[in-house]
Amino acid sequence: MEIIPVYGKTGIIEMPFATVGIYRLSQNTAVLVDSGDYPRPELLELLAREGLAVRAVFCTHLHPDHISNNPALAERYGAEIFAHEAERGSAKAMFDMLETTRQYPQWIDVRPVYPITWLNSEQEEVAVDGAVFRILQTPGHSFGHIAVVTPDGVCCLGDSMMSVPRVRQAKLPYMEDADQAIESMERIRETQYPFYITAHAGATPLEALQLMVDENVRVELELYDRFLRMMDHPRSEEEAIRDFLVETGTWREDGQVSWFVRHSAETRLVSLIRSGELQWRDGTVCATRQIKRN
Ligand SMILES: [Fe+2]
Repeated sequence: MEIIPVYGKTGIIEMPFATVGIYRLSQNTAVLVDSGDYPRPELLELLAREGLAVRAVFCTHLHPDHISNNPALAERYGAEIFAHEAERGSAKAMFDMLETTRQYPQWIDVRPVYPITWLNSEQEEVAVDGAVFRILQTPGHSFGHIAVVTPDGVCCLGDSMMSVPRVRQAKLPYMEDADQAIESMERIRETQYPFYITAHAGATPLEALQLMVDENVRVELELYDRFLRMMDHPRSEEEAIRDFLVETGTWREDGQVSWFVRHSAETRLVSLIRSGELQWRDGTVCATRQIKRN
C-alpha cells in the first residue's frame, strides 16, 4: 500500500475495493476522505511509515466500504470523523440489513457507532488545522452523500459518480434516489477542479469530466427506459422488481440476489412512480401510457 500523488498535497491510497483520498496538512499530519473497504492494518502501517497522524476523516457517505478504518483511525490518532447528518438513517438501515441478512459478514463490525461530527446541507466548508475543505452536496447514491474538495482543489467524489470504464460495465449501480443522483452529477458537471477522484477507480482529470458525467447520466436514464419498456403489462411489485433484475442481468435463479441489488431495483421503481410514468392500480404496478416492447 502506498500514497500515489495526484495534485499538490493530495494523493490517493488504492485498496482492492476502494480509493481513499489523502491530503497532507503538514510534514506529519493528514486528512483522509473515506477510510477504506475493510479494516486494513496495512493502512495504519503506511501512515506510520510516512510519519503521518490522521487529524480528520471526511466520509463521503457511511457505506461500509468507505468507513471501515474509521474506528482504528479515531482510536490511534483521535481523528475527527465527519459525515452528513442525512447519512444517519441510510447507514442504520444498511447496517441493520447486514446484521439480519448476514450477507456480508466482513462488514457487520464496522457499524458507525463512534462519535461523528455531523454536517448539514448548509455547511459549505470545514477547516481542519486552518486548511479549508469544501463540501459539495451530492445526494442520490445515498441520501447524505457529499463530495469533498481538498485545499488543492481536488474533488473527491466518493460514489457520486463512477469512472467511465466502471460505469460502462455496471449493470445496476446502487442508488437510493437515482433522480437526485442525476441532479448531483449535473451540478458536478458545472465545477472545474483539476482532478476528480472516484471512490473505486483513481483520479480523473478535468478534461475527462464531461465524458464521465455523460456516461453516468446515460446509464441512469437507460435504466429508467429499460424499466419502462419492460412494463408492457401490469405486474405485482415483486414481479416488476424480479423482471427488472432479469432485464439488467442481475437476477439469480437461486434467489440469492443481494440486498444492495434488490434495493437498487426498488428505488428505480419508486422513482418511476413518483415521476408519474408508472402507477399503482388494483394492487399492481402499471405504465401510465401504452408501452410496446421492441
Ligand atoms: Fe456507496
